[in-house]
Amino acid sequence: MAWRRWALEVDRLMRVAPRTRILLTVLSLLVAVQAGMIAWSAWPRRKPSVAVFPAAPSNAVAWFQDARFGLFIHWGPISLLGTEISHSRQDPRTRRDQAASVLPEEYDQLYLRFNPTAFDAEEWVRLARSAGARYLVFVAKHHDGFCMHDSQLTEYKITRSPWARDPLAELAQACRTAELPLGIYYSAPDWHHPDFRTAQYRRYNRYMRDQLAELLTAYGPVRILWFDVQEEWPQDYEQHLLYEWIRGLQPAILINDRLSPDTDFQVYEQAVGEYENPKPWETCDTLGEQWSFKPDDRIKTSAECIRLLAACAGRGGNLLLNVGPMPTGEIEPRQVVVLEEIGNWLARYGESVYGTSRGPLEPGPWGVSTQAGDRVYLHMLDWVEDSILLPSPGRSILRHRVLTGGTADLRQNEQSLVLSIPAADRHPVDTIIMLELAKDGSGQP
Ligand code: GLC
Repeated sequence: MAWRRWALEVDRLMRVAPRTRILLTVLSLLVAVQAGMIAWSAWPRRKPSVAVFPAAPSNAVAWFQDARFGLFIHWGPISLLGTEISHSRQDPRTRRDQAASVLPEEYDQLYLRFNPTAFDAEEWVRLARSAGARYLVFVAKHHDGFCMHDSQLTEYKITRSPWARDPLAELAQACRTAELPLGIYYSAPDWHHPDFRTAQYRRYNRYMRDQLAELLTAYGPVRILWFDVQEEWPQDYEQHLLYEWIRGLQPAILINDRLSPDTDFQVYEQAVGEYENPKPWETCDTLGEQWSFKPDDRIKTSAECIRLLAACAGRGGNLLLNVGPMPTGEIEPRQVVVLEEIGNWLARYGESVYGTSRGPLEPGPWGVSTQAGDRVYLHMLDWVEDSILLPSPGRSILRHRVLTGGTADLRQNEQSLVLSIPAADRHPVDTIIMLELAKDGSGQP
Protein backbone atom coordinates (compact mmCIF):
# COMPACT_ATOMS: atom_id res chain seq x y z
CA MET A 1 0.00 0.00 0.00
CA ALA A 2 1.16 3.51 -0.72
CA TRP A 3 1.31 4.62 2.92
CA ARG A 4 3.49 1.61 3.82
CA ARG A 5 5.94 2.42 1.01
CA TRP A 6 6.05 6.01 2.21
CA ALA A 7 6.80 4.87 5.84
CA LEU A 8 9.66 2.69 4.62
CA GLU A 9 11.09 5.60 2.66
CA VAL A 10 11.05 7.86 5.75
CA ASP A 11 12.68 5.11 7.74
CA ARG A 12 15.45 4.80 5.12
CA LEU A 13 16.08 8.56 5.17
CA MET A 14 16.35 8.55 8.95
CA ARG A 15 19.12 6.01 8.75
CA VAL A 16 21.42 7.90 6.36
CA ALA A 17 25.04 8.10 7.36
CA PRO A 18 25.81 10.55 10.23
CA ARG A 19 27.96 12.72 7.88
CA THR A 20 25.12 13.15 5.43
CA ARG A 21 22.85 14.04 8.33
CA ILE A 22 25.21 16.78 9.52
CA LEU A 23 25.47 18.12 5.97
CA LEU A 24 21.67 18.17 5.61
CA THR A 25 21.30 19.98 8.93
CA VAL A 26 23.87 22.66 7.99
CA LEU A 27 22.22 23.15 4.60
CA SER A 28 18.75 23.58 6.08
CA LEU A 29 20.12 26.02 8.66
CA LEU A 30 21.66 28.09 5.86
CA VAL A 31 18.39 28.11 3.95
CA ALA A 32 16.52 29.19 7.08
CA VAL A 33 18.97 32.06 7.81
CA GLN A 34 18.76 33.25 4.20
CA ALA A 35 14.96 33.20 4.24
CA GLY A 36 14.99 35.11 7.52
CA MET A 37 17.22 37.80 6.06
CA ILE A 38 14.98 38.25 3.03
CA ALA A 39 11.90 38.50 5.21
CA TRP A 40 13.59 41.06 7.49
CA SER A 41 14.57 43.31 4.61
CA ALA A 42 11.08 43.16 3.12
CA TRP A 43 9.35 43.98 6.42
CA PRO A 44 8.13 47.57 6.66
CA ARG A 45 10.71 49.66 8.47
CA ARG A 46 9.82 50.83 11.88
CA LYS A 47 8.84 54.48 12.13
CA PRO A 48 11.98 56.61 12.11
CA SER A 49 12.35 58.34 15.47
CA VAL A 50 12.56 61.68 13.67
CA ALA A 51 9.73 62.32 11.20
CA VAL A 52 11.00 63.15 7.74
CA PHE A 53 9.08 65.31 5.31
CA PRO A 54 10.72 64.84 1.90
CA ALA A 55 10.84 68.19 0.12
CA ALA A 56 8.68 68.97 -2.90
CA PRO A 57 10.57 69.08 -6.22
CA SER A 58 12.52 72.34 -6.49
CA ASN A 59 10.71 73.41 -9.66
CA ALA A 60 7.38 73.18 -7.84
CA VAL A 61 8.70 75.41 -5.07
CA ALA A 62 10.15 77.84 -7.63
CA TRP A 63 6.80 77.99 -9.42
CA PHE A 64 5.04 78.82 -6.14
CA GLN A 65 7.48 81.56 -5.22
CA ASP A 66 7.33 83.11 -8.68
CA ALA A 67 3.53 83.09 -8.69
CA ARG A 68 3.21 85.55 -5.79
CA PHE A 69 -0.57 85.97 -6.06
CA GLY A 70 -3.40 83.46 -5.73
CA LEU A 71 -7.17 83.54 -5.34
CA PHE A 72 -8.76 81.72 -2.40
CA ILE A 73 -12.46 80.74 -2.58
CA HIS A 74 -14.61 79.90 0.46
CA TRP A 75 -18.09 78.91 -0.64
CA GLY A 76 -20.92 76.69 0.53
CA PRO A 77 -24.61 76.48 1.50
CA ILE A 78 -23.96 78.87 4.41
CA SER A 79 -23.75 81.68 1.83
CA LEU A 80 -27.58 81.46 1.87
CA LEU A 81 -27.56 83.01 5.34
CA GLY A 82 -24.47 85.17 4.87
CA THR A 83 -22.89 84.24 8.20
CA GLU A 84 -19.33 82.93 8.50
CA ILE A 85 -18.57 79.50 7.10
CA SER A 86 -18.38 76.84 9.88
CA HIS A 87 -17.67 79.28 12.72
CA SER A 88 -21.28 80.46 12.76
CA ARG A 89 -22.49 76.88 13.32
CA GLN A 90 -23.15 77.38 17.02
CA ASP A 91 -25.94 77.59 19.46
CA PRO A 92 -26.80 81.32 19.63
CA ARG A 93 -27.20 81.03 23.40
CA THR A 94 -23.51 80.27 23.81
CA ARG A 95 -22.35 83.07 21.57
CA ARG A 96 -22.08 86.72 22.28
CA ASP A 97 -22.75 87.77 18.69
CA GLN A 98 -26.12 86.06 18.38
CA ALA A 99 -26.91 87.44 14.94
CA ALA A 100 -23.84 85.69 13.57
CA SER A 101 -24.76 82.18 14.73
CA VAL A 102 -26.91 79.43 13.32
CA LEU A 103 -28.10 76.37 15.22
CA PRO A 104 -26.15 73.31 14.04
CA GLU A 105 -29.35 71.47 13.13
CA GLU A 106 -30.38 74.38 10.89
CA TYR A 107 -26.88 74.85 9.48
CA ASP A 108 -26.59 71.20 8.53
CA GLN A 109 -29.84 71.29 6.53
CA LEU A 110 -28.98 74.33 4.44
CA TYR A 111 -27.64 72.31 1.53
CA LEU A 112 -31.12 70.93 0.91
CA ARG A 113 -32.07 74.33 -0.44
CA PHE A 114 -28.75 75.37 -1.99
CA ASN A 115 -29.21 75.83 -5.72
CA PRO A 116 -26.58 78.18 -7.16
CA THR A 117 -27.70 77.93 -10.77
CA ALA A 118 -25.67 80.96 -11.90
CA PHE A 119 -22.36 79.25 -11.07
CA ASP A 120 -20.00 79.26 -14.02
CA ALA A 121 -16.58 77.75 -13.38
CA GLU A 122 -15.14 79.31 -16.51
CA GLU A 123 -16.26 82.73 -15.35
CA TRP A 124 -14.54 82.29 -11.96
CA VAL A 125 -11.36 81.19 -13.67
CA ARG A 126 -11.58 84.09 -16.12
CA LEU A 127 -11.96 86.44 -13.18
CA ALA A 128 -9.01 84.88 -11.32
CA ARG A 129 -6.90 85.32 -14.43
CA SER A 130 -8.01 88.89 -15.00
CA ALA A 131 -7.18 89.66 -11.35
CA GLY A 132 -3.65 88.52 -12.16
CA ALA A 133 -3.89 85.49 -9.87
CA ARG A 134 -1.45 82.74 -10.77
CA TYR A 135 -3.28 80.00 -8.87
CA LEU A 136 -6.63 79.29 -7.33
CA VAL A 137 -7.34 77.47 -4.06
CA PHE A 138 -10.87 76.13 -3.63
CA VAL A 139 -12.33 75.00 -0.31
CA ALA A 140 -13.40 71.40 -0.86
CA LYS A 141 -14.36 70.79 2.77
CA HIS A 142 -14.38 73.33 5.58
CA HIS A 143 -14.68 72.59 9.32
CA ASP A 144 -18.47 72.25 8.87
CA GLY A 145 -17.73 68.97 7.08
CA PHE A 146 -19.82 69.76 4.02
CA CYS A 147 -18.19 68.45 0.86
CA MET A 148 -18.17 70.79 -2.10
CA HIS A 149 -17.19 67.83 -4.27
CA ASP A 150 -18.88 64.56 -5.13
CA SER A 151 -17.26 62.45 -2.41
CA GLN A 152 -18.24 58.79 -2.55
CA LEU A 153 -17.70 58.55 1.20
CA THR A 154 -20.56 60.70 2.46
CA GLU A 155 -24.05 61.88 1.63
CA TYR A 156 -23.34 65.29 3.17
CA LYS A 157 -22.22 66.78 -0.11
CA ILE A 158 -23.06 69.19 -2.85
CA THR A 159 -24.30 66.54 -5.27
CA ARG A 160 -27.12 65.81 -2.78
CA SER A 161 -28.31 69.45 -2.98
CA PRO A 162 -31.04 70.37 -5.48
CA TRP A 163 -28.25 71.70 -7.68
CA ALA A 164 -26.57 68.29 -7.82
CA ARG A 165 -23.39 69.44 -9.56
CA ASP A 166 -19.74 69.07 -8.60
CA PRO A 167 -18.19 72.56 -8.65
CA LEU A 168 -14.71 71.19 -7.91
CA ALA A 169 -14.83 69.01 -11.01
CA GLU A 170 -16.04 71.96 -13.11
CA LEU A 171 -13.40 74.27 -11.67
CA ALA A 172 -10.63 71.72 -12.15
CA GLN A 173 -11.65 71.41 -15.79
CA ALA A 174 -11.82 75.20 -16.29
CA CYS A 175 -8.43 75.61 -14.59
CA ARG A 176 -6.88 72.99 -16.85
CA THR A 177 -8.27 74.72 -19.94
CA ALA A 178 -6.99 78.12 -18.80
CA GLU A 179 -3.73 76.64 -17.47
CA LEU A 180 -4.40 78.07 -14.05
CA PRO A 181 -2.88 75.84 -11.35
CA LEU A 182 -5.45 74.50 -8.90
CA GLY A 183 -5.06 74.08 -5.15
CA ILE A 184 -7.43 72.34 -2.78
CA TYR A 185 -8.20 73.45 0.76
CA TYR A 186 -9.16 70.65 3.13
CA SER A 187 -10.07 71.06 6.77
CA ALA A 188 -8.71 68.23 8.92
CA PRO A 189 -11.26 69.02 11.64
CA ASP A 190 -14.78 68.04 10.75
CA TRP A 191 -17.48 69.21 13.15
CA HIS A 192 -20.19 67.24 11.37
CA HIS A 193 -18.60 63.80 11.20
CA PRO A 194 -19.84 61.65 14.13
CA ASP A 195 -16.42 60.02 14.64
CA PHE A 196 -14.21 63.08 14.62
CA ARG A 197 -12.16 63.10 17.83
CA THR A 198 -14.35 60.53 19.55
CA ALA A 199 -13.50 57.01 20.70
CA GLN A 200 -14.09 56.05 17.05
CA TYR A 201 -11.51 58.52 15.83
CA ARG A 202 -9.72 55.82 13.75
CA ARG A 203 -12.78 55.59 11.55
CA TYR A 204 -12.67 59.35 10.99
CA ASN A 205 -8.95 59.19 10.25
CA ARG A 206 -9.62 56.60 7.55
CA TYR A 207 -12.43 58.76 6.18
CA MET A 208 -10.09 61.73 5.93
CA ARG A 209 -7.32 59.71 4.31
CA ASP A 210 -9.69 58.15 1.77
CA GLN A 211 -11.28 61.49 1.03
CA LEU A 212 -7.87 63.00 0.38
CA ALA A 213 -7.22 60.13 -2.01
CA GLU A 214 -10.41 60.99 -3.87
CA LEU A 215 -9.42 64.64 -4.08
CA LEU A 216 -5.93 63.83 -5.28
CA THR A 217 -6.87 61.24 -7.86
CA ALA A 218 -10.20 62.32 -9.36
CA TYR A 219 -9.54 65.97 -10.19
CA GLY A 220 -6.36 65.95 -12.24
CA PRO A 221 -3.17 67.68 -11.15
CA VAL A 222 -3.46 69.49 -7.83
CA ARG A 223 -0.62 71.92 -7.18
CA ILE A 224 -1.35 72.79 -3.56
CA LEU A 225 -2.93 70.92 -0.69
CA TRP A 226 -3.96 73.58 1.76
CA PHE A 227 -4.66 72.01 5.11
CA ASP A 228 -6.50 73.64 7.95
CA VAL A 229 -6.24 73.57 11.16
CA GLN A 230 -3.28 72.44 13.19
CA GLU A 231 -4.58 72.73 16.75
CA GLU A 232 -7.49 70.41 16.09
CA TRP A 233 -5.63 67.82 14.04
CA PRO A 234 -7.25 64.36 14.20
CA GLN A 235 -6.01 62.26 17.07
CA ASP A 236 -3.18 59.81 16.61
CA TYR A 237 -2.33 60.82 13.09
CA GLU A 238 1.19 60.31 11.85
CA GLN A 239 1.59 63.43 9.80
CA HIS A 240 4.83 62.45 8.10
CA LEU A 241 3.31 59.17 6.85
CA LEU A 242 0.28 61.04 5.52
CA TYR A 243 2.60 63.57 3.92
CA GLU A 244 4.63 60.90 2.12
CA TRP A 245 1.49 59.17 1.01
CA ILE A 246 0.00 62.42 -0.40
CA ARG A 247 3.23 63.12 -2.24
CA GLY A 248 3.05 59.59 -3.65
CA LEU A 249 -0.34 60.42 -5.16
CA GLN A 250 0.73 63.85 -6.47
CA PRO A 251 4.53 64.01 -6.51
CA ALA A 252 4.81 67.74 -7.26
CA ILE A 253 2.18 68.90 -4.79
CA LEU A 254 3.01 71.61 -2.25
CA ILE A 255 1.62 71.14 1.24
CA ASN A 256 1.18 73.94 3.75
CA ASP A 257 2.37 73.98 7.33
CA ARG A 258 -1.01 73.24 8.86
CA LEU A 259 -0.13 69.57 8.39
CA SER A 260 3.20 70.05 10.16
CA PRO A 261 5.69 72.91 10.48
CA ASP A 262 8.14 70.83 8.41
CA THR A 263 6.12 70.87 5.20
CA ASP A 264 6.64 72.93 2.04
CA PHE A 265 5.38 76.38 2.89
CA GLN A 266 4.27 78.46 5.80
CA VAL A 267 0.96 80.29 6.10
CA TYR A 268 0.40 83.58 7.88
CA GLU A 269 -3.26 84.26 8.44
CA GLN A 270 -4.42 87.85 7.99
CA ALA A 271 -0.91 89.09 8.75
CA VAL A 272 2.00 89.91 6.48
CA GLY A 273 4.80 87.34 6.69
CA GLU A 274 8.36 88.03 7.75
CA TYR A 275 11.27 89.29 5.66
CA GLU A 276 13.65 87.09 7.68
CA ASN A 277 11.74 83.89 6.95
CA PRO A 278 13.86 81.72 4.64
CA LYS A 279 10.99 79.28 4.05
CA PRO A 280 8.50 79.79 1.20
CA TRP A 281 5.45 81.47 2.69
CA GLU A 282 2.04 82.83 1.92
CA THR A 283 -0.22 85.33 3.64
CA CYS A 284 -3.91 84.54 3.34
CA ASP A 285 -6.38 87.33 3.80
CA THR A 286 -9.98 88.15 3.10
CA LEU A 287 -11.28 90.66 0.62
CA GLY A 288 -14.27 91.21 2.89
CA GLU A 289 -14.46 90.79 6.64
CA GLN A 290 -15.25 87.11 6.67
CA TRP A 291 -14.21 84.11 4.60
CA SER A 292 -17.58 83.25 3.12
CA PHE A 293 -20.13 85.61 1.59
CA LYS A 294 -21.60 88.34 3.76
CA PRO A 295 -24.12 90.75 2.27
CA ASP A 296 -22.97 94.38 2.40
CA ASP A 297 -19.65 93.30 3.82
CA ARG A 298 -16.96 95.93 4.12
CA ILE A 299 -14.54 95.02 1.39
CA LYS A 300 -10.97 96.13 0.96
CA THR A 301 -10.25 98.59 -1.81
CA SER A 302 -7.97 97.58 -4.66
CA ALA A 303 -5.41 100.04 -3.24
CA GLU A 304 -5.39 98.15 0.07
CA CYS A 305 -5.01 94.82 -1.72
CA ILE A 306 -2.20 96.05 -3.96
CA ARG A 307 -0.30 97.45 -0.99
CA LEU A 308 -0.79 94.16 0.82
CA LEU A 309 0.51 92.26 -2.20
CA ALA A 310 3.56 94.54 -2.45
CA ALA A 311 4.16 94.18 1.31
CA CYS A 312 4.21 90.38 0.91
CA ALA A 313 6.34 90.32 -2.24
CA GLY A 314 8.86 92.70 -0.65
CA ARG A 315 9.27 90.28 2.24
CA GLY A 316 9.60 87.25 -0.02
CA GLY A 317 6.07 85.82 0.21
CA ASN A 318 2.81 85.28 -1.65
CA LEU A 319 -0.65 86.69 -1.10
CA LEU A 320 -3.66 84.38 -1.26
CA LEU A 321 -6.64 86.71 -1.38
CA ASN A 322 -10.03 85.29 -0.53
CA VAL A 323 -13.44 85.89 -2.07
CA GLY A 324 -16.73 84.46 -0.82
CA PRO A 325 -19.13 83.87 -3.73
CA MET A 326 -22.85 84.50 -3.34
CA PRO A 327 -25.58 81.82 -2.99
CA THR A 328 -26.40 82.34 -6.66
CA GLY A 329 -22.95 81.03 -7.60
CA GLU A 330 -21.75 84.44 -8.75
CA ILE A 331 -19.03 86.59 -7.29
CA GLU A 332 -20.42 89.87 -6.03
CA PRO A 333 -20.01 92.69 -8.59
CA ARG A 334 -18.23 94.96 -6.06
CA GLN A 335 -15.64 92.23 -5.51
CA VAL A 336 -15.28 91.68 -9.24
CA VAL A 337 -14.43 95.37 -9.67
CA VAL A 338 -11.72 95.21 -7.00
CA LEU A 339 -10.23 92.04 -8.47
CA GLU A 340 -10.14 93.54 -11.94
CA GLU A 341 -8.46 96.69 -10.64
CA ILE A 342 -5.75 94.55 -9.02
CA GLY A 343 -5.39 92.75 -12.35
CA ASN A 344 -5.02 96.03 -14.26
CA TRP A 345 -2.31 97.12 -11.86
CA LEU A 346 -0.50 93.79 -12.21
CA ALA A 347 -0.79 93.94 -15.98
CA ARG A 348 1.19 97.21 -15.87
CA TYR A 349 3.57 96.60 -13.01
CA GLY A 350 3.67 92.83 -12.67
CA GLU A 351 7.42 92.73 -13.43
CA SER A 352 7.97 94.20 -9.94
CA VAL A 353 6.00 91.35 -8.31
CA TYR A 354 5.92 88.11 -10.33
CA GLY A 355 9.12 86.13 -10.41
CA THR A 356 10.80 88.42 -7.90
CA SER A 357 12.39 87.61 -4.58
CA ARG A 358 12.47 89.85 -1.53
CA GLY A 359 14.71 92.83 -2.30
CA PRO A 360 18.09 93.71 -0.80
CA LEU A 361 16.59 96.65 1.14
CA GLU A 362 14.87 95.60 4.33
CA PRO A 363 11.28 96.82 4.57
CA GLY A 364 10.92 100.16 6.32
CA PRO A 365 8.25 102.75 7.06
CA TRP A 366 8.70 103.93 3.44
CA GLY A 367 7.83 100.56 1.85
CA VAL A 368 9.61 97.48 0.50
CA SER A 369 11.89 96.32 -2.29
CA THR A 370 11.77 93.31 -4.60
CA GLN A 371 14.44 91.93 -6.91
CA ALA A 372 14.66 90.05 -10.19
CA GLY A 373 18.18 89.52 -11.52
CA ASP A 374 20.00 92.87 -11.69
CA ARG A 375 16.82 94.82 -11.18
CA VAL A 376 15.63 96.08 -7.85
CA TYR A 377 12.14 97.54 -7.52
CA LEU A 378 11.41 100.02 -4.79
CA HIS A 379 7.77 100.01 -3.79
CA MET A 380 7.35 103.37 -2.08
CA LEU A 381 4.20 102.92 -0.02
CA ASP A 382 4.41 105.88 2.34
CA TRP A 383 6.13 109.21 1.93
CA VAL A 384 7.26 109.62 5.45
CA GLU A 385 9.45 112.54 4.33
CA ASP A 386 9.99 114.39 1.09
CA SER A 387 13.45 113.06 0.73
CA ILE A 388 13.84 109.50 1.87
CA LEU A 389 17.01 107.97 3.17
CA LEU A 390 17.32 104.31 2.22
CA PRO A 391 20.05 101.70 2.75
CA SER A 392 22.20 101.14 -0.33
CA PRO A 393 21.33 98.08 -2.45
CA GLY A 394 25.02 97.12 -2.19
CA ARG A 395 25.92 97.55 -5.87
CA SER A 396 26.11 100.67 -7.98
CA ILE A 397 22.97 101.77 -9.76
CA LEU A 398 23.47 102.08 -13.51
CA ARG A 399 20.10 103.66 -14.22
CA HIS A 400 16.67 104.03 -12.76
CA ARG A 401 13.11 104.60 -13.96
CA VAL A 402 9.88 105.45 -12.20
CA LEU A 403 7.56 102.75 -13.54
CA THR A 404 4.47 104.58 -12.32
CA GLY A 405 5.45 107.71 -14.27
CA GLY A 406 7.46 110.86 -13.62
CA THR A 407 10.99 111.33 -12.46
CA ALA A 408 13.00 110.60 -9.36
CA ASP A 409 16.07 112.20 -7.95
CA LEU A 410 18.39 109.52 -6.67
CA ARG A 411 21.75 109.95 -4.96
CA GLN A 412 23.83 107.01 -3.97
CA ASN A 413 26.88 106.77 -1.75
CA GLU A 414 28.49 103.72 -0.14
CA GLN A 415 26.02 103.30 2.68
CA SER A 416 22.87 104.88 1.46
CA LEU A 417 20.50 106.14 -1.15
CA VAL A 418 18.64 109.40 -0.95
CA LEU A 419 15.45 109.45 -2.97
CA SER A 420 13.02 112.20 -3.73
CA ILE A 421 10.15 112.41 -6.15
CA PRO A 422 8.06 115.51 -6.87
CA ALA A 423 4.72 115.23 -5.07
CA ALA A 424 2.86 115.19 -8.38
CA ASP A 425 4.78 112.08 -9.49
CA ARG A 426 4.03 110.09 -6.34
CA HIS A 427 1.52 107.38 -7.04
CA PRO A 428 -1.25 107.33 -4.43
CA VAL A 429 -1.08 103.55 -4.07
CA ASP A 430 2.50 102.48 -4.72
CA THR A 431 5.22 104.46 -6.48
CA ILE A 432 7.51 101.96 -8.14
CA ILE A 433 11.09 102.79 -9.04
CA MET A 434 13.17 100.32 -10.95
CA LEU A 435 16.91 100.38 -10.25
CA GLU A 436 19.25 98.61 -12.59
CA LEU A 437 22.31 97.46 -10.72
CA ALA A 438 25.81 96.94 -12.07
CA LYS A 439 26.71 93.27 -12.46
CA ASP A 440 27.93 91.49 -9.37
CA GLY A 441 31.51 92.33 -8.45
CA SER A 442 31.63 95.54 -10.49
CA GLY A 443 32.19 97.43 -7.30
CA GLN A 444 30.56 99.80 -4.94
CA PRO A 445 29.40 103.21 -6.11
C1 GLC B 1 -8.78 79.72 9.82
C2 GLC B 1 -10.24 79.68 9.91
C3 GLC B 1 -10.86 79.14 8.67
C4 GLC B 1 -10.28 79.67 7.40
C5 GLC B 1 -8.81 79.61 7.44
C6 GLC B 1 -8.13 80.24 6.26
O1 GLC B 1 -8.21 78.51 10.07
O2 GLC B 1 -10.68 78.91 10.99
O3 GLC B 1 -12.21 79.45 8.72
O4 GLC B 1 -10.71 78.89 6.35
O5 GLC B 1 -8.35 80.22 8.59
O6 GLC B 1 -6.86 80.62 6.60
